[in-house]
Amino acid sequence: MSIIEELFSVKGKVALFTGGAGVLAGAIARGLGKAGARIVLTDIAPLEERVQELRQQDIEVHAYRMDVLDKTDIERVAEQVKREVGAVHILLNAAGGNMPEASTSPERSFFDLPLEALQKVVNLNLFGGAILPAQVFARQMLENEGGGVIINFSSMSAFKPLTRVLGYSAAKAAVSNFTQWLAVHIAQEYSPKVRVNAIAPGFFLTKQNRYLLLDESGNLTPRGQAIIAHTPMGRFGEPDDLIGTIVWLASPASAFVTGAVIPIDGGFSAFAGV
Ligand SMILES: NC(=O)c1ccc[n+]([C@@H]2O[C@H](COP(=O)([O-])OP(=O)(O)OC[C@H]3O[C@@H](n4cnc5c(N)ncnc54)[C@H](O)[C@@H]3O)[C@@H](O)[C@H]2O)c1
Repeated sequence: MSIIEELFSVKGKVALFTGGAGVLAGAIARGLGKAGARIVLTDIAPLEERVQELRQQDIEVHAYRMDVLDKTDIERVAEQVKREVGAVHILLNAAGGNMPEASTSPERSFFDLPLEALQKVVNLNLFGGAILPAQVFARQMLENEGGGVIINFSSMSAFKPLTRVLGYSAAKAAVSNFTQWLAVHIAQEYSPKVRVNAIAPGFFLTKQNRYLLLDESGNLTPRGQAIIAHTPMGRFGEPDDLIGTIVWLASPASAFVTGAVIPIDGGFSAFAGV
């Protein structure tokens, strides 16, 4: 292996995804798998199709049903994975997403947003999407000789809140904050060998945001147009755009990087709009 290959190597590492049936997780699992990582997918949604797709590409993949909102379930799966596959080295917290009922709209004003909807989106993205899996898997990683890597999924809405998506913005801002908090806490109190970072994807056309970006005939909505106009690279992201950053964050190439939230956004978060 060349020095560069060694730096970016994830070969043989067990990479566990929450939300493994999701769109972004699919592309990242393929990228990490092709790079030689052993993939473990977890989700509450069916995983058979994703597993088949990856196996056809000669990627080692294991699948478990796991609800990120249930810590006992996470602990159960963590034990099972340790026994059946091996110690998890890379945790990708890809479960999460926006919920229309926690967003304002012409029919739903800020004043009428139901507390339950706001709680639900914060529960999914902050507690299930980051904190609970980190509690379980970081503890396991501290027992690994080589430590481990946690990668959270933040959002553009964490830097400056996007209009309408109140609950999601609050949740993702908290995910970025938690990423920094946990990076510091683990390095200071336990081990600098467990690193915690996040990616903040820009605008990727997926099922969670399609209703906001495209109208029924597939044309850009005014919001979709505004996004493209504010993305210096002039396009939506493709899930494959995330792979390089993830391999970097998961490998020794980023050995001195912890507590970072990396935008992958075609320049959206850097652009002042003028
Ligand atoms: N797609 C984008 O443009 C974009 C942009 C920024 C951030 N993100 C974030 O990236 C992450 C992945 O996004 P995506 O677009 O791939 O979403 P997705 O909806 O395709 O995937 C999310 C997955 O999480 C799973 N999930 C939901 N509740 C769960 C639970 N309780 N337990 C276990 N799994 C559960 C779903 O079944 C789904 O498979 C999310 O956190 C999202 O907020 C996405």
